[in-house]
Amino acid sequence: MKRMRSVIPKPGHVLDGMVTAVVCLDEALNVTYANAASEMLFAVSARQIMGEPVDQAIAHLRERTGRFRECIATGVPLSHREMRLRKNGDEPKVVSGTFTPITDRRGKVQLVLEFLPLDRHLRITREDQLLAQHQLSREVVRGLAHEVKNPLGGLRGAAQLLQRKSSDDSAKKLTEIIIREADRLQRLVDRMLGPNRRPEISSLNVHAALEHVRELLAVDLPPGIVIDRDYDPSLPDILADREQLVQAFLNIAGNALDAMDGQGELLLRTRAKRQVTIGAVRHKLVAQIDICDTGPGISAEMQAKIFYPMVTTRADGTGLGLSIAQTLVRSHGGLIECESQPGNTVFSVFLPIACDGGS
Ligand SMILES: Nc1ncnc2c1ncn2[C@@H]1O[C@H](COP(=O)(O)OP(=O)(O)OP(=O)(O)O)[C@@H](O)[C@H]1O
Ligand SMILES: [Mg+2]
Repeated sequence: MKRMRSVIPKPGHVLDGMVTAVVCLDEALNVTYANAASEMLFAVSARQIMGEPVDQAIAHLRERTGRFRECIATGVPLSHREMRLRKNGDEPKVVSGTFTPITDRRGKVQLVLEFLPLDRHLRITREDQLLAQHQLSREVVRGLAHEVKNPLGGLRGAAQLLQRKSSDDSAKKLTEIIIREADRLQRLVDRMLGPNRRPEISSLNVHAALEHVRELLAVDLPPGIVIDRDYDPSLPDILADREQLVQAFLNIAGNALDAMDGQGELLLRTRAKRQVTIGAVRHKLVAQIDICDTGPGISAEMQAKIFYPMVTTRADGTGLGLSIAQTLVRSHGGLIECESQPGNTVFSVFLPIACDGGS
């Protein structure tokens, strides 16, 4: 080990700041270095695995030792864009991997292994695409609402004039219908236009906002539904527009109550989460607010489109609630995600508390 010191990075090295997991092996495939990202990825302690044979030190790499030997023997680097590293029966870790043999000044060969977790990248790409599509569809709906808004005002005004001028009762009734329907349409158009102001940011206690939501829901809560809370007391205040977030929470929780159809449990849960990526931005600290219900769940097909405007399965729904909630949360730099199976649907609202400023 001594001979290789010149090329083996020391603890606290710049490699420890990398997102890529780096592990170095000597010719006999013993571990000579493991950076902080590799400790995280393989759930090992660099100190404990130092000098150990890699197949014993890192179970995820056991099946790859043949490849490592091949690399050392041929001196040719190997790259795999998508590699599944398995440990026993666990869910495989999907990474892109590169194995590079390096010969030091004394002619000794070492192998540098690099692993970049792919799930994070795939997630960022998927999220970016979804958010871009969501944004586009919202713009289409907003454009449509704008076009309808002006003539609708004219229509209502004309019906009012007609109502005033007419002495005929049946004509009055008809104009009343026009006015009433125009008002209904106006409310829909206003919702289609969505949030029309920028967030007014101030320090906000998430739990106080959730308690307010709970009180509002409690006003006419069906007797078969209970609302539970599981709040993380360590959650710091966030910077947000209270009214807008309450609106977003209400839209999500309102759906949960609709879905449960009078019977079930609504859970409001909070957690402080470290190192979370939202869109392409990595945040040091994020508030996660889960709104969970025990309703029938949302099919995978439906899950793919519920955040789009005008998507609904309810006879009296407009399909705007979640689209508006996502827009509100996005304007706070956050994101809403959904996971669902029968009996357990979770809408998670992620809101940044502290930002790394990078990706
Ligand atoms: N917790 C949930 N459980 C089951 N289905 C849900 C849940 N939340 C949302 N959905 C599904 O997502 C659809 C879209 O929800 P969204 O809030 O956008 O519109 P809506 O509730 O149908 O109408 P609106 O909110 O505009 O009155 C719903 O119609 C429903 O099918
Ligand atoms: Mg809704």
